[in-house]
Amino acid sequence: MEALKSPLKNVNGELYIENVPAVKLAEKFGTPLYVISESKIRENYRRLYEAFSNRYDKFRILYSAKANTNISVLKILHDEGAYVDTVSAGEVYIALKAGFKPYEILYTGIDVGDLELKYILDSGVMVNVDSLPQLNRLLKFGIPEVLSVRINTEYGAGHHEYVVTASKFAKFGMNENSALEAYRIAKEAGVKKFGIHMHIGSGITEVTPFIKSGMRLLEIARKICTELGMSFDFIDFGGGLGVPYRPEDQELDLDIFCSRLVGLFRSKLSEFSLGNPELWIEPGRFIVAEAGILLTRVNAIKILPHKRFAFVDAGFNVLLRPAMYGAYHHIVVTNRLNEKPAEVYDVAGPICESGDIIAKERMLPKMCEGDLLAVLNVGAYGFSMSSQYNSRPRPAEVLVKGDKIALIREAETFEDLIRRQRVAEWLEG
Ligand code: LLP
Repeated sequence: MEALKSPLKNVNGELYIENVPAVKLAEKFGTPLYVISESKIRENYRRLYEAFSNRYDKFRILYSAKANTNISVLKILHDEGAYVDTVSAGEVYIALKAGFKPYEILYTGIDVGDLELKYILDSGVMVNVDSLPQLNRLLKFGIPEVLSVRINTEYGAGHHEYVVTASKFAKFGMNENSALEAYRIAKEAGVKKFGIHMHIGSGITEVTPFIKSGMRLLEIARKICTELGMSFDFIDFGGGLGVPYRPEDQELDLDIFCSRLVGLFRSKLSEFSLGNPELWIEPGRFIVAEAGILLTRVNAIKILPHKRFAFVDAGFNVLLRPAMYGAYHHIVVTNRLNEKPAEVYDVAGPICESGDIIAKERMLPKMCEGDLLAVLNVGAYGFSMSSQYNSRPRPAEVLVKGDKIALIREAETFEDLIRRQRVAEWLEG
């Protein structure tokens, strides 16, 4: 029998998300379908917030919008008191639409163009710069109210090499000398409030990388404060907090994580004379991953001499993580929760590429056409990484709260596939 964690429940062998049967959602909205639980988002946010703020009260969570940019998700987190971490003008635009005030939005752009920099300055959000050239271009257009510098501490980590963002060879952030120069330039230009930032990677379930990198960040902060006679309003340790995906995966030990990070922070604040800054973190996955499932219908069972495929209607256009990172997502057969795993399947999508496999060699109950599968832990980097590849319209998203259901994104239509296309005039007629 499947051991399910909240917001999922096994009710007489059938999957419920909060108080709603998965089958009912699939019937009402069709498949593939992303479903996200409001209670779980709030629960994760509060668990993290309490763990930190009990140890250091000048603490703030910036929800990392890239994990899930649905406006309803952003509104829930705004309501909880979060600020938001954004990485593009588009994310700033959506965060503003969701009700975040400019002073609640931190923008971390990766050496973007002038148009984007102008938009960012005009919106009045806090800016986290990635390089000296980016800073110099930014200051040509205006002076941000709050400026921070992304530091490459060279201590990276992550669930896959593509998501490790700090190392000697990483494209992100500045080293100590460039950072010193950046703060000097920004101070002379008239910036009044400063922060300092790191983000070392994603999907990290060990505490040590955060501590090693955090130590380096604080040393660099000391050097900057001493040499430039300035202080920081916030020190941002980034996101990257991992969640378990496989049943046997270890959770990040929140208690140890918080006590070690806050312990380091507090001790170095006094030792390094860093004043009284706020402690910030910017998790995405930790808050939303476990709140989301993807419902997908079995279209066919195809049996080859050495392989059994379950073909479903969600491919890597809908959920990219398995194809892109070889990521594991647990799968349950929503209408067979009390049945024992009996056969080994590759769960395959409809995309015309051999890499379009959501799960490889997975033991699942014996399935047949029409069964409804739930792919778990897809609330982060699920919909937000989806595409229209193979001209497949993107799916709908539904929010569940108790027994309440709301459609929070309509499924796209064929019309959406060509909405922005124009036919060259010489081809017309
Ligand atoms: N802050 C910055 C500056 C980031 O670049 C990221 C993620 C985060 C915060 C939030 O990281 P999180 O807490 O969610 O790990 N698509 C990949 C993950 C890429 C993360 C990129 N940056 C995946 O599906 O695993």
